[in-house]
Amino acid sequence: MVVLGIESSCDETAAAVYDSEKGILSSIISSQIQDHAPFGGVIPELAARKHIEALIPVTEEALRQAGITLDVVEGIAVTFAPGLVGALLTGLSFAKALAWTLGRPFVGIHHLEGHLLSPFLDTEVPPPRFPFLGLIVSGGHTSLYKITDYGRYELLGKTVDDAAGEALDKAGKLLGLPYPGGIAIDKLTQEGGNPRAYKFPIGFPQRDNLNFSFSGLKTALVYTVKKMALTPPFNQPIHDKIRRDLCASFQETIVKALVRKSLFALEETGLKELVVTGGVAANHRLRQVLEKKSKKTGIRVIIPPVNYCTDNAAMIALAGLKRLERGQKDTFSLNAISRLPLESL
Ligand code: KG4
Ligand code: ZN
Repeated sequence: MVVLGIESSCDETAAAVYDSEKGILSSIISSQIQDHAPFGGVIPELAARKHIEALIPVTEEALRQAGITLDVVEGIAVTFAPGLVGALLTGLSFAKALAWTLGRPFVGIHHLEGHLLSPFLDTEVPPPRFPFLGLIVSGGHTSLYKITDYGRYELLGKTVDDAAGEALDKAGKLLGLPYPGGIAIDKLTQEGGNPRAYKFPIGFPQRDNLNFSFSGLKTALVYTVKKMALTPPFNQPIHDKIRRDLCASFQETIVKALVRKSLFALEETGLKELVVTGGVAANHRLRQVLEKKSKKTGIRVIIPPVNYCTDNAAMIALAGLKRLERGQKDTFSLNAISRLPLESL
């Protein structure tokens, strides 16, 4: 079966073609990062407008690279939740129109299901075996799931406030780094910076709680910076060395929280494989620490290639294929939903 996937939940317009026999035939991603950078964050209305401009060319390019025409497409998968509702609606309406015109089935996909299945896109390494643990770390989500099969996800813990990527982006903004802060902090800390220079709090440090909290950490950074401005030399720009140390310490605290909760969850569930996905999975320090823990504990850590970790439509096409193969499809009354727990599906 050949499935066309469409993704437009946040600031990436993506289209991909997945063939059940040959795997990914194409995956095109058009990022709006440069459009939102001047505002220091994603502007929902702007995101929706940019998706409208990009959906047709991105889909045409996905078909072209796959070497197929629309009549070969046997099913359409599209992200319908969660995300920015205006952004979601553009992709959903586009997918509905295509499905109606072609007379093909279409299925709405939960964005997080796409992320959790993204390791199956990578043909370079053996896929994870069910059941496995999934950590999603992005700008909008930080959650731990037990995945027992395609379509079967059990939430073990999630952030009660900011997502890890959101906290990194806010810290970057506060420290005068370019948008998005997560990438800038990763880059800066690779050049140096002492991760032990500042001590920041880890939210819910206890073992019996698999939730995350990053707002206390963010407040601690704000106060640390404010205090600096109140001592001589008053209100001076932050010195480069101090900025690097602050970034390294802030990033280290986030990495510690993510790794600690993942290890607790693995111990508690007895699972032996951990999949890490979402934009923050690209972080060098997180990868380094996970690799070390993997060697020490024998846990297999699987991090898909960066272009499958960040938002893409290949993961949506694959999730759609699995649902269509199970005989699931949606009607044209399916609506976009900004907040929807994955486990409620
Ligand atoms: O998954 P994603 O592309 O979009 C969603 O949020 O769904 O993730 C974007 C987030 C941003 O917060 C960005 O700062 C963060 O991922 N990010 C990183 C890195 N690359 C992207 N954070 C830390 N280190 C990175 N290398
Ligand atoms: Zn995402």
